[in-house]
Amino acid sequence: MSFIFSGVQPTGNLHLGNYLGAIRNWEKLQGQGCLFCIVDLHAITVPQFPNDLREATLKTAATYIACGINPSDKPVIFNQSAVSGHAELAWILNCHTPLGWLNRMTQFKEKAGKHRDNAVLGLYAYPVLMAADILLYQATHVPVGEDQKQHLELARDIAGAFNRHYDDHIFTIPEPLILGEATRVMSLRDGTKKMSKSDESDYSRINLTDDADTIRLKIQKAKTDPYPLPESVAELEGRPEARNLLTIMAALEDLPRPFEAVVAQYAGMTFSAFKAQLADRLIATIQPISALIHALMTGHRDALENHLRQGAEAASARAEKTMTLVRETVGLFRP
Ligand code: AQP
Repeated sequence: MSFIFSGVQPTGNLHLGNYLGAIRNWEKLQGQGCLFCIVDLHAITVPQFPNDLREATLKTAATYIACGINPSDKPVIFNQSAVSGHAELAWILNCHTPLGWLNRMTQFKEKAGKHRDNAVLGLYAYPVLMAADILLYQATHVPVGEDQKQHLELARDIAGAFNRHYDDHIFTIPEPLILGEATRVMSLRDGTKKMSKSDESDYSRINLTDDADTIRLKIQKAKTDPYPLPESVAELEGRPEARNLLTIMAALEDLPRPFEAVVAQYAGMTFSAFKAQLADRLIATIQPISALIHALMTGHRDALENHLRQGAEAASARAEKTMTLVRETVGLFRP
């Protein structure tokens, strides 16, 4: 039977990339067995202010609900640190993961940058914790954006190696689910860089909490090039900003159609006319989400906490089954 697991770090306001690349797809999958995690242990791989992290955790829960996840039917939202199995399994997997596999991870190289020697061990070991998150629940499918593909492959490698080492089927091998038209939404300031919470410029991203005026302004200011929109997908070569804005437009359509058809519709249009239409679309999608996040965070904080508590109980019950098996397999004694 399939089981879905996915998560987002509570490291600031969630943005359009998190929504189109990940959370929007969760809504369609929640009829199956699923858990949607707020990965706060991942968030502390870079420095956080404790009060901000607590607030961002609750806000991420509000954002999941505002994006259509319904924890009232069944408890599916929880924060990672509330289930101790994540950290325990991560340690056990650390002891089974060759360093050479981690040396290949591009996200560490990007995030540690030039200050590699000062980066913390947790940032380096991040992909093993992510593998533990997934394997702990025997997830069959993990909906993520394109940027997480390499980490998913590592989780599959770790699971396979562990199963072979103990000559037993301990872990389910998870499959990535990279869905939708916008699997990699790019920065509005630089079409070659991923839209990211940690980008210094707020103008680089559309936050799910932005109001209509802010969205319109950010789209107006988005970087473009001096040419009108192209006639075909082939002509987008070398025009990353035009490709990004058209990809966002395509992803926001009610009924998906081939990207070629979307490009053809706007062929020859000026950026200013196109941006006005794109802003309208974005506002129609994001305003209801932003209003609901605000309402939940101001009037329903107890209910949010309750959802997280129930989610953690449900997640712990499933996690403990895997941990019992893993401890026994590895030979960890439980008096
Ligand atoms: N730009 C993006 N386009 C498509 N999908 C994206 N995702 C993130 N950015 C984009 C997907 O969102 C999920 C959660 O990601 P995350 O916040 O846990 O970590 P991240 O990928 O590191 O996202 P950020 O915004 O770049 O966070 P910071 O700046 O804190 O590191 C994942 O499924 C991811 O693929």
